[in-house]
Parts: sequence; structure tokens; C-alpha cells
Amino acid sequence: MARKIIIDTDPGQDDAVAILLALASPELEVLGITCVAGNVPLPLTSKNARVVCELAGRPDTPVFAGCERPLERPLVTAEHVHGKTGLDGITLPEPGMPLQDTHAVDFLIETLRSLPPGSVTLCPLGPLTNIATALTRAPDIAGKIAEIVLMGGAYFEVGNVTPAAEFNIHVDPQAAEIVFRSGIPLVVMPLDVTHKALTTRARVEAFRNLGTPVGHAVASWTDFFERFDMAKYGSEGAPLHDPCVIAYLLKPDLFAGRHINVEIETVSELTMGMTVADWWRVSGRAPNAMFMGDLDADGFYALLTERIARL
Ligand code: BDR
Ligand code: CA
Repeated sequence: MARKIIIDTDPGQDDAVAILLALASPELEVLGITCVAGNVPLPLTSKNARVVCELAGRPDTPVFAGCERPLERPLVTAEHVHGKTGLDGITLPEPGMPLQDTHAVDFLIETLRSLPPGSVTLCPLGPLTNIATALTRAPDIAGKIAEIVLMGGAYFEVGNVTPAAEFNIHVDPQAAEIVFRSGIPLVVMPLDVTHKALTTRARVEAFRNLGTPVGHAVASWTDFFERFDMAKYGSEGAPLHDPCVIAYLLKPDLFAGRHINVEIETVSELTMGMTVADWWRVSGRAPNAMFMGDLDADGFYALLTERIARL
């Protein structure tokens, strides 16, 4: 039986590739896509999610708009990375499929309450505002969630949006704190992993050479956002952060990490949103997250290319 997932996202080219990977994979049943403000504001993320579903030939996927700003802090966006639309790199048709009327947080609560405990895995790919709001409004759903597999944080790589913090956690640290203290089983894909999921010319050309509209779109998106990370890091390519979450559901053996304690910095402006990860187990605090540190990048790109080819 396919594993039921809900993707919570702020597309974003790498979010888009993650959504495509999930929709291409029969092992997963995408119950819905909940959108949040992050890389770009909510009207764009909830439009982009539908653009991606239509590109995948899956306009039947329910897409919900959620929270338009972080719990306590002003919204920080990342147009400098993802472009004005959030999906710059290729112009795709305006979506014809509707946005659902239900708020994303209501969808999360209602869906989790309606299913037996442990049947749904949440896959957050952006700031954790929707998930934290659902947990705060309906604490009973915590026991219903099988697992949360999320992209966020960093330990060895420290930060990307500030010297100390990764974007998704930095944008809504209060929400991240709620999720990391929830007691729900967590698997975390920090920059330590995603910075190993680097595109190369050969990997991008493999997408383009599929000769399909989806392969062409993925190559165009990666070409677009590569320029920013290559200039910043001097690397050969750019990290495909968010598909790591979906790849983990399909092939967990591609990843290695440690079950450790991770706390979120919510007080200091200097280090706001830092994931204080006890990698060396020196704090004595109880582990609350499987914090990944390593990735088989060739295996990851082989999986991704094979699945994108199916769309
Ligand atoms: C994360 O921030 C966003 O820009 C990406 O989509 C990814 O989820 C990486 O820090
Ligand atoms: Ca994202």
C-alpha cells in the first residue's frame, strides 16, 4: 500500500522538483499539498504548486493555501535565489486547476483526525508555520502523525540566509521550536546533506536529455537557480534541497545521520533560527530528531532522473 503523505511547501524550484518526485512515485500517495509563505509570498507559492501539479499531469491533486506570514516575525522571502515568481527559469502556463476553499491548517487537522494514528507522514519543505499552527490549534493530531520528514537547519554548514541559520528555520523559528518540541518522530534534512545534493552539468543535461516537457522544466529551473549558489559558494552546481525529503521516503539508505537533540534558537537576533544540533552528544538533552549528515549523491540523482522520466 502506498504511504500517505502531505507536502507542506513554498515553491521554489527545488520544492517543485520535490513535488514532481513525489507525484512520479507509486510508493507515495499525495493526499494534498499545503502551501505556506516562504521563498515568495503565499499567493505565488499556492499558484506555483498548482503549476507544478499541472506540469506533472496531476491536476487532481488538492492544493491548499495556508499561513501568509510567520507566527511572530515579519515574512522574509528569497526572490534573490528563486526569482520574482519563485519558479523563474521557464515560463509555464497559468494553472487552470482550482485552489481548494479549505485553509491548509484546517485540511491538515481534518485529515489527520479522520485517519487512524500513524497513517500520514508530513513533508515540510518550507517554513513550519502551517504545521505549528495545526499542532497548536489541535494538539491531539500530534499522536496521529506517523513521522515528520522536513528540510531545514544545519550544523556543520551553519547557515545560508544568515551566518548562523538556514532559511526555512530562520523565517519562522517560533514555528520550528513548536515542531522540534512536539515529540513527533522527526527526520531532518539540513544543509549538511542538501549541500551534497549538488547539480553538475552532466546531472542537469540528464534531465534535459529526457526529451520531455517535465525534464526540460527541471533542467531550466536548475539552470536558473544554479547561478546564485555557484557565485556564492564557488561550487560546480547548486543544491537540490527539498527533493532530499521525498528521496528519503523512497530510499532511506541513501542517507546517513544521527539521532540527536536539536533545539531552535528563538531569542538572539544574531543567531535567530539556528538549529543547535548536539551532533557530538555533549548536552545530555534527550534526542528528538534523526538529523542527517551524509548522502549518496550519485544514487540520489539516479533516483531523481529515473522518476522524473516517468512523468
Ligand atoms: C530551503 O530554503 C528554500 O530557499 C529552499 O526551497 C529550501 O527549502 C533551503 O535553505
Ligand atoms: Ca522550500
